[in-house]
Amino acid sequence: APKTKVTALPGDGIGPEVMDATIKILAAAEAPIEWEFAEAGAKAFERGVVTGVPRETLDSIGANKLALKSPLETPIGYGGKSANVTMRKYFELYANIRPVRELPGIQTPFSGRGIDMVIVRENVEDVYAGIEHMQTTTVAQCLKLMTAPGCERIIRAAYGVALAEERQSVTVAHKANIMKLTEGMMKRMGEKVAREFPGIKAGQVIIDNCAHQLVIRPEAYDVIVTSNMNGDIISDLAAGLVGGLGIAPSSNLGDQVAMFEAVHGSAPDIAGKDMANPTALLSASIMLLRHIGAFDVAEKVEQALFVTLAEGRNLTGDLAPRGHGVGTKAFTDQVISNLGRNSAMKSRTYK
Ligand code: NAD
Ligand code: IPM
Ligand code: MN
Repeated sequence: APKTKVTALPGDGIGPEVMDATIKILAAAEAPIEWEFAEAGAKAFERGVVTGVPRETLDSIGANKLALKSPLETPIGYGGKSANVTMRKYFELYANIRPVRELPGIQTPFSGRGIDMVIVRENVEDVYAGIEHMQTTTVAQCLKLMTAPGCERIIRAAYGVALAEERQSVTVAHKANIMKLTEGMMKRMGEKVAREFPGIKAGQVIIDNCAHQLVIRPEAYDVIVTSNMNGDIISDLAAGLVGGLGIAPSSNLGDQVAMFEAVHGSAPDIAGKDMANPTALLSASIMLLRHIGAFDVAEKVEQALFVTLAEGRNLTGDLAPRGHGVGTKAFTDQVISNLGRNSAMKSRTYK
């Protein structure tokens, strides 16, 4: 079968460990992918690449139009740019899709409530536009940039997700009560675009109450669409409801390029210790498989993951009862040995 070329960025911290795990599982599942490895993040910064993303890496992603990316460390301090933001802006990956679903076998205070939502986060505008400077040595200024076309395409992306996954509602989460022009633009665009989709329930909520509702009755949400920084914060919160950052995947979509990654960062506290949970990146790779139309392999890998989580014997430390965690490698081997088995939890269907 013909293989699809995908750029793989092993990244920083736990990045290489979760990338290795994901690639092993996909190879065992005979995923039709040929990996092209590229560098970005800490190593690039160290050799003086100011953006953290070398030219060859941009060219590889630009040519393949697909990437699977591990977390990249963001340099701290004035002047250091985020390599992640660089790539999202360079390829105009304006839609950040972050599904949050209760998974089998993972016990949380919210288990059994049927949490199953998608956060659609605008990914290139807002305070992430990177327009920040020192006005004087004591005055810092940052611009919150939002455009009508930027709001329109992210709202449309949210309705696209709702249609593809046969979801009931799209809720715009915003801070339009305070920022009437920027956040208000997103809210009003939500109302405008909603009229084209009478079959889908349109809602709106102010972002701080959204954070509250996410904890009080998270099962009420279906698709949430929001601006960049709001989405950054509530997606970590929502991940926490269903087991934490170790399991939360995402895609970064533009009109040309799609990049898949975990929601979490480089986790320096557990890096290099065979402790990281590869579920988030593995789940991102399942989104990638569906994106390229490899639905059967996606389903096979997802079901093996569900079976492994449901068994509960080989969970990494973030999910297992204290003292009962296994390593990244042991978890990976267990997923591989479960390939071909099916769990009681069905995969979602996509149209
Ligand atoms: P983090 O997500 O790296 O870690 C937060 C906590 O979650 C830590 O306790 C960590 O051990 C745990 N955790 C994260 N992923 C895990 C996994 N797969 N398995 C088990 N536990 C996991 O957040 P942070 O510490 O705030 O950020 C560290 C660095 O990562 C920063 O430089 C940040 O800018 C960067 N970052 C990058 C990305 C990205 O590349 N997309 C995303 C977020 C943060
Ligand atoms: C994420 C991360 C990034 C963000 C950072 C690393 C730039 O937290 O993907 O959620 O803030 O978007
Ligand atoms: Mn984040």
